[in-house]
Amino acid sequence: MVMPRNLIDRILVPHAAFQGALRRIGQCYQNAEAHGNPACLAIVGPSRTGKTSVLGQFASAHPAVRTAEGLEVPILRVKTPSKPTVKSMAEIMLREMGDPRFDKGTENARTGRLMTLIRNCGTRMAMIDEFQHFYDKGQNKVMHHAADWLKVLVDDTGIGLVVAGIPGCLATIEQNEQLRGRFRTPVAFERFDWRSPEDREEFAAILSAFYDALAEHIDLPDFTSAEMAFRLYCATGGLIGYLAMLLSQVVWDVIDDKRKVVTLKHLREAFAHSVRSSHDYGDAPDPFGPRFATEPSEALLATVSRIGAAAPALTEGRPSRRKVWHARARDVLSAA
Ligand SMILES: Nc1ncnc2c1ncn2[C@@H]1O[C@H](COP(=O)(O)OP(=O)(O)OP(=O)(O)O)[C@@H](O)[C@H]1O
Ligand SMILES: [Mg+2]
Repeated sequence: MVMPRNLIDRILVPHAAFQGALRRIGQCYQNAEAHGNPACLAIVGPSRTGKTSVLGQFASAHPAVRTAEGLEVPILRVKTPSKPTVKSMAEIMLREMGDPRFDKGTENARTGRLMTLIRNCGTRMAMIDEFQHFYDKGQNKVMHHAADWLKVLVDDTGIGLVVAGIPGCLATIEQNEQLRGRFRTPVAFERFDWRSPEDREEFAAILSAFYDALAEHIDLPDFTSAEMAFRLYCATGGLIGYLAMLLSQVVWDVIDDKRKVVTLKHLREAFAHSVRSSHDYGDAPDPFGPRFATEPSEALLATVSRIGAAAPALTEGRPSRRKVWHARARDVLSAA
C-alpha cells in the first residue's frame, strides 16, 4: 500500500485528556438534548495541544443532515473573527447555518434570523474556537457587547456552548459576571510533562500509535524505546501538534526521497525543516544529534518546556530583522 502524504493528519490518538474533553462536551450536548438549563464549557490550553482537534472530533460525530423536514444542524461550529462584534459573530454563524443572506441586515435582524435557524435546524450546541479573540490584548479589554450577545443567544435558544482557546480566553468569562455563572470548570489541555510518570506514559502511548501507523510503510527507530521517546519529547516539548508536524515532515521526506528507511539522521533533517526554527532551544543539543544526552536533566527539561511558548516581544531600540533588512535594502538602493 502506498503511504499517503497526509498519513499523520489522518491519525487521531484518543489520549486521556482528549477523551476526558469529549466526555465533558458530550455531557453539555446531552443536557441540551434533554432541554436542561444551558451548559457552557471552555476548553483551554497552550497552542498545539489539540483543542481544535477535539472540537472537530465531536462535531464530526454529529454532522448536519438533510431530512424530509429540512436541514438539521446539531452543532454550529465557528471560529471567532479577529475582532468579534455582534454583527461579525452573527454573520459567521449565519453562514455556517447556510443562510444565503448571511452578511445582510442589522445586528437585530441577523440575530433574529440566527435564532430562528437554530430553532428550525434542531441545533443543540454552538462551538466557538479561538475564543481568546474576545479579549483584545492591545487595548486590554474584553469585547463585552459581543460576550453579552453570546449569553443572550445561549439563554434564548437553550443550546449548549463550548468555547476553546489559549488560557487568556478565560479573561472574557471571568470578567463577565453572567457568563461566569454559566460556565462549568474548564477542561484544561496541557503539554505532557516528562517529570510526571502519567504524562510520560501518555506521551509514550501517543508515540506508539504514530509509530504503528508509520511502521506499516517504513523501517524506523522504535519510538517506544525510552531513548527515542525522550528524543522525540525534547524535539517537541511534549506538544502533540509539534509531534504531528515533525512526523508529517518525516513522511513527506520519505515520499520525496523514495526511501523506505528512516534513521536518526533523517529525523534530524525532518526536525530541522519542521519544528526546529519555531522556538529557541538555547544551547540544548540537537535531540537527534550525536551529542544529545538521552538522560533527562533539569536544565534540558526547562528549555524544552518553553518550546511553543510565544517569544518575548522585541524590546525598544532593538530593531526587528525585518527593519534591519529594510534598512539594508535602502542603503543598497541609495548607494546604487
Ligand atoms: N488527539 C490527537 N491525535 C493525533 N493528532 C493530534 C491530536 N490532537 C492534536 N493533534 C495534532 O496536533 C495538531 C494541533 O492540534 P490542534 O490544532 O487541535 O491544537 P490547538 O490546541 O487547537 O492549537 P492552537 O491553539 O494553535 O489552535 C493537529 O493538527 C493534529 O495534527
Ligand atoms: Mg486551535
